[in-house]
Amino acid sequence: MSTKDTVLALFEKNKGFFISGERIAEELNISRTAVWKAVKKLQSEGYEIKAVTNRGYCLDKESDVLTVRGIRSFLDDNSRNLRPEVFVRVDSTNTKCIEKANNGEPEGYVAVAGSQSAGRGRRGKDFFSPAESGIYMSILFRPVGLTENQVLHFTTMAAAAVSEAIEAVSDKKAEIKWVNDIFIDGKKVCGILSEASYGIQTGQLEYVIVGIGINAYEPAGGFPASIADIAGCVFDEPSTGLKNRLTAEILNRFMEYYKHLPDTPYSEEYIRRSMVTGKDVTVHKGKEMLKAHVLGIDEEFGLKVRYDDGSVEILRSGEVSIRI
Ligand code: BTN
Repeated sequence: MSTKDTVLALFEKNKGFFISGERIAEELNISRTAVWKAVKKLQSEGYEIKAVTNRGYCLDKESDVLTVRGIRSFLDDNSRNLRPEVFVRVDSTNTKCIEKANNGEPEGYVAVAGSQSAGRGRRGKDFFSPAESGIYMSILFRPVGLTENQVLHFTTMAAAAVSEAIEAVSDKKAEIKWVNDIFIDGKKVCGILSEASYGIQTGQLEYVIVGIGINAYEPAGGFPASIADIAGCVFDEPSTGLKNRLTAEILNRFMEYYKHLPDTPYSEEYIRRSMVTGKDVTVHKGKEMLKAHVLGIDEEFGLKVRYDDGSVEILRSGEVSIRI
């Protein structure tokens, strides 16, 4: 273990209590300068460590920081070979992954960030990505031999994996709003943006990036007015390790599904979680908005809708909105 990690382990053991620099130095048999340097490093990684003269250092009782070590500690055999890299802040984890992919990075790289300055959502929208309350992650894949339709399954796989992971780490019930928004109690807690790149000359799929943004906690100061009605979060209270665990649980489930591609063993699970089935929705087709009733989701994840004029269509992509 590095000095930084041993200092962190001592802080974790004494979470919420002050320990003097002298005591840390003595217990770990290191110099006080080494303690100070380790604290600075941990603070730069996002750990909330208070430093008070004559009292020492104290790791905030409720601090929940994303770390590679923390995520790795929850990964299972399916995902142990993934290579997570954690950033305190990036422009966008999808953009980070795309840069990596364009520089030849092999499959399995995962960019995870505590906040994003230019988080991207679907249809060119921004994705609100404040510090401390969210998990922003993107995974790089280089699948071979998939049809264009099968590539779309990355998004539905992610929706099923996130829903299951949320239920594994919280007491909340997660629903899917077709095609890939995750809701809890009528509020959106997660958005997914998958991006694929095809070679211009070859037309071959080069890589797929699956980007997942989760509101783990309510952000300090609440959600901005533009999304306050619709946005929710997974956990009510911050607690150590929850973000690392949720991140790892998502990766574990996703990788379990990924190994079965092009089969989709999660399709029943996905269909069962649909919150729009049997509901009246508005279908967005470019600038057009059409009222429809949702009849169901087929095994290829198409949304079967009946319009007011009685005609039926299976939507393969796009967006619907629902009044909640
Ligand atoms: C949506 O709801 O419109 C999709 C939002 C996807 C947001 C995630 S956060 C991690 C990754 N990086 C991004 O810039 N976007 C995705």
